[in-house]
Amino acid sequence: MTSTSVENPTASAIALHFRAAQPHDGAHLWRLARATGTLEVNSAYFYLLFASDFADTCLVAEHEGQVVGMVIGYRPPTDPRAAFVWQIGLLPEYQGLGLGPQLLDHWFELPAFSACAFVTATVADDNPASQSLFRRFARAHGVACEETSRFTVDMFPHEHPSEPQFRIGPIRRGVSPRA
Ligand SMILES: CC(C)(COP(=O)(O)OP(=O)(O)OC[C@H]1O[C@@H](n2cnc3c(N)ncnc32)[C@H](O)[C@@H]1OP(=O)(O)O)[C@@H](O)C(=O)NCCC(=O)NCCS
Repeated sequence: MTSTSVENPTASAIALHFRAAQPHDGAHLWRLARATGTLEVNSAYFYLLFASDFADTCLVAEHEGQVVGMVIGYRPPTDPRAAFVWQIGLLPEYQGLGLGPQLLDHWFELPAFSACAFVTATVADDNPASQSLFRRFARAHGVACEETSRFTVDMFPHEHPSEPQFRIGPIRRGVSPRA
């Protein structure tokens, strides 16, 4: 468990507490996904499952005892050196303050990812905040962000922007990211 203060002056007063998820967080994660205003909200059961079966690869960020941020991820069985971000989000009042990169850094430092050298995610074409977050994470680690086609419009059963895959790495452990 770690705490940190935000470098960004606009968020300098915010000290988040980061920890791996626990089974009782499922409901918090579902509420947070709903509150972000951008994330696709899945069933509550889905978040309960991630907060229990995948608890060690999911991060919760708390501020003053409230869950304000999350990263839900896992290690794809077909790509075990990758840490896959399924959903990352902050409550609206915590967005745009530079907290996203901290969430990603603390998530990737979870012990469950110690053997991973890559961060992967699919990023919707219409989500500039998310695109910017992952590209900036790659720059901070001084590694490439390879963007390839993955889930195209025709693969969705309903109207949905395409979701290209971002693959960031190889990331060296023990090297602090640049601000
Ligand atoms: C994506 C997210 C986690 C990024 O965290 P953050 O702390 O807001 O990120 P930052 O403050 O570092 O901003 C990252 C970039 O997004 C931009 N941004 C942040 N919030 C934004 C918003 N609501 N709309 C448009 N751009 C936004 C910032 O200006 C910044 O751009 P820059 O790198 O060109 O300067 C956060 O914005 C969020 O929770 N969004 C809603 C959920 C979501 O879309 N998740 C991603 C899909 S899984």
